[in-house]
Amino acid sequence: MVALYGSVHLSFVPEFSPGLEGVVAAETAVSEVDGANGRLIYRGGYLIEDLAPVANFEETAYLLWNGQLPNKIALETLRRQMTIARRLSDSARGAMSALDAQTDAMDTLRTTISAQGATKTLTTPSLEEAIALTAVVPTIVAAAHRRAKGIEVIAAREDLGHAANLLWMLEGKEPSAERVHWLDTYLVLLADHGLNASTFTARVIASTGSDLTSCVVGAIGALKGPAHGGAMYAARTMLDKIGHVDNVEPWMQKAHEEHRRFAGFGHRVYRTYDPRAKILRELAQTAAPDLYRLAARTEEVALKILHEAHPERPNATNVDFWASVVLTGVAIPKELFTCVFATSRVAGWTAHVLESLADLRIIRPASLWKGPQPGIKPLPLADR
Ligand SMILES: CC(C)(COP(=O)(O)OP(=O)(O)OC[C@H]1O[C@@H](n2cnc3c(N)ncnc32)[C@H](O)[C@@H]1OP(=O)(O)O)[C@@H](O)C(=O)NCCC(=O)NCCS
Repeated sequence: MVALYGSVHLSFVPEFSPGLEGVVAAETAVSEVDGANGRLIYRGGYLIEDLAPVANFEETAYLLWNGQLPNKIALETLRRQMTIARRLSDSARGAMSALDAQTDAMDTLRTTISAQGATKTLTTPSLEEAIALTAVVPTIVAAAHRRAKGIEVIAAREDLGHAANLLWMLEGKEPSAERVHWLDTYLVLLADHGLNASTFTARVIASTGSDLTSCVVGAIGALKGPAHGGAMYAARTMLDKIGHVDNVEPWMQKAHEEHRRFAGFGHRVYRTYDPRAKILRELAQTAAPDLYRLAARTEEVALKILHEAHPERPNATNVDFWASVVLTGVAIPKELFTCVFATSRVAGWTAHVLESLADLRIIRPASLWKGPQPGIKPLPLADR
């Protein structure tokens, strides 16, 4: 049998998989999502629950880029490189100030990082660029926030790490060690996650031989959607709307009857509890005790409804649900949640792009033609 896929005639009929579910589109050693067993493994074979209590974001990013954890000297070098790269270029400042101060923070991030990485000629992705793009994200996020508030933008501090610098640049106050730890844990947990939508986007762009900034800009666009990175904002908004433990049951039932999705639940790959959600749930108890109580009741009701609706499909709690509670405890404004996700995931995006350079082949899947066959419909030339 000959099938027409796009303009390509194939002598076999490939299986169509909506959402590319179950399709293997890359080989990677950056991270592995073991959905059946609820495990997330980072480069080098580290389980996320072993890494998160001992590594900070810089060490995790180094691991994803280089395949091993840094020694003292390597970490110091990385910190110095990041310190230099936290400054915005003149073009980036110009691009940001051309935007209305009330622009969505993710849009400001996308535009400003595009200007920060703009070059005169096409460049090949490099580790130096990966470090520079990762380092500058908090600077842009904090500046976007302070511009929107109409207050002066604050420069990063050389003596603070990545997580602490984000809080410093947002607030202009020395953050407590506890809040830095909560944020750092979040950044470590979210740094990579297999071939999720934004990472796939970055790899598709890289596969054309394009530059690293373009990959990151595309990935930011993919992350923004509520089915992906935007779910954390949606989860917090859902908790805000529910407002009180007494409202949980009726609110969730109504949402279910109206076929609205519960933000922070369900996952394409996990068939059991998301291991990152487990760690963040634990942290949420101390980070935001009041919101934790409401969230715990919401989770209980959501899982019951989801199980009754789809007993065959374990729509469990995903990372975004409990992350929204932890970031509330860190006092990150919810409008910045997706940007904070990008602050972490940029390490994974760039690690994937660098990895893909070793075996670059353009990603170009087929499509299933559902229009009419040529020749069936006469050309409408009579009216000319
Ligand atoms: C993550 C997500 C996009 C995965 O989607 P997917 O793998 O394509 O799963 P499907 O959309 O095929 O869902 C399968 C069934 O479970 C239901 N379902 C999945 N997630 C659900 C949710 N959060 N709330 C209610 N029902 C849900 C779907 O409605 C569908 O049932 P239906 O066939 O009766 O409509 C999806 O679970 C979702 O939209 N979750 C909410 C957003 C979110 O938290 N995203 C962050 C992911 S880390």
